[in-house]
Amino acid sequence: MDVGVTQLQMAQAGDTDSLAATILLVDDEPANVKLLERALRTFGYSSLLATTDPRTVLGLFQQHGCDLIILDLNMPNMDGFEVMRQLQALGRTDLPPILILTAQHDQEHRVRALRGGAHDYVTKPFAVDELLARVRNLLQVQLYHKSMRGRNQWLEERVRERTEELYDTRLQIVRRLGRAAEFRDNETGLHIVRMSKMSVALAEAAGMCSGDCELLLNASPMHDVGKIGIPDHVLLKPGKLEPHEWEVMKGHTTIGAEILSGDDSELLSMARIIALSHHEKWDGSGYPNGLQGEQIPLVVRVVALADVFDALTSERPYKKAWTLEAALEYIDGNRGKHFDPRVVDMFHERLADILAIRAEYADPVSPAA
Ligand SMILES: [Fe+2]
Ligand SMILES: [Fe+2]
Repeated sequence: MDVGVTQLQMAQAGDTDSLAATILLVDDEPANVKLLERALRTFGYSSLLATTDPRTVLGLFQQHGCDLIILDLNMPNMDGFEVMRQLQALGRTDLPPILILTAQHDQEHRVRALRGGAHDYVTKPFAVDELLARVRNLLQVQLYHKSMRGRNQWLEERVRERTEELYDTRLQIVRRLGRAAEFRDNETGLHIVRMSKMSVALAEAAGMCSGDCELLLNASPMHDVGKIGIPDHVLLKPGKLEPHEWEVMKGHTTIGAEILSGDDSELLSMARIIALSHHEKWDGSGYPNGLQGEQIPLVVRVVALADVFDALTSERPYKKAWTLEAALEYIDGNRGKHFDPRVVDMFHERLADILAIRAEYADPVSPAA
């Protein structure tokens, strides 16, 4: 066989990517391996792996990877069919193409090999030019697939980064909205922190998945964002509200929902639902829609309890903080009325955690107190 540089090889010499590809040669006959190695090296392929023991193919592939396998069929210990079967059993999507190089001329072997995973089939003795042309073709397809896989991974990574960025931006917006609402209200920033963390403690107890709990943590601080739209003479009135003022005040739920609408992200959707419904009551006596029982989404039911519990046990300009006992009595008294009975049970179950949140984020004691 002529392994010199021919015209065909000259024409292909610029194909540097293919030449850098790794080729694994598998033939039990050392002389065949040598001949093949020489032909490929002469042509410019420099990254060659070779073995005369088919049982080592899997290990070599797993350890070094390769872009093409040139495989003999008839070998002791393990034939080429079994090598292909084992490679496919790896279940990898990046298996290299396999070129069968065998003395078996018959069609039965050829068809069986091609069905068994081979991409091409060359019989010995072979013409070097033809073999090299087939090697080059297989490598070009393989390298194209490889670059597409790399490109897809790169794109997936960019999409993931952009998605994270978008989520972070939304998070910043809702946090800033929450801060804006705090400026309008008597409630302190720490109320928001406590009630959102308490809501998550209850949601976890209810079996909510960690992704939803994270959303709840970030969405629940928006529950009173609608107070931005309530006039000062109502929102900041020191005394009891007149019925018509109370109606205006109730509007903070629908105003909040409106502020948070128009975006279908999970975060803003949950924030909108909470803002709209956090004053709904289990028995249907709440507002704005008089929803009842499980018509009220679970996230809202946990927020409603956490919000009220924290408001009761906190000092406000217009009221003293209730004692824990009084607050617990109120919650138990409203089991099945204001609050979902199951959420009340979970509240008792997680009381130690809730009290720990209350202690960790306690309002600073004012000097006058
Ligand atoms: Fe509210
Ligand atoms: Fe609140």
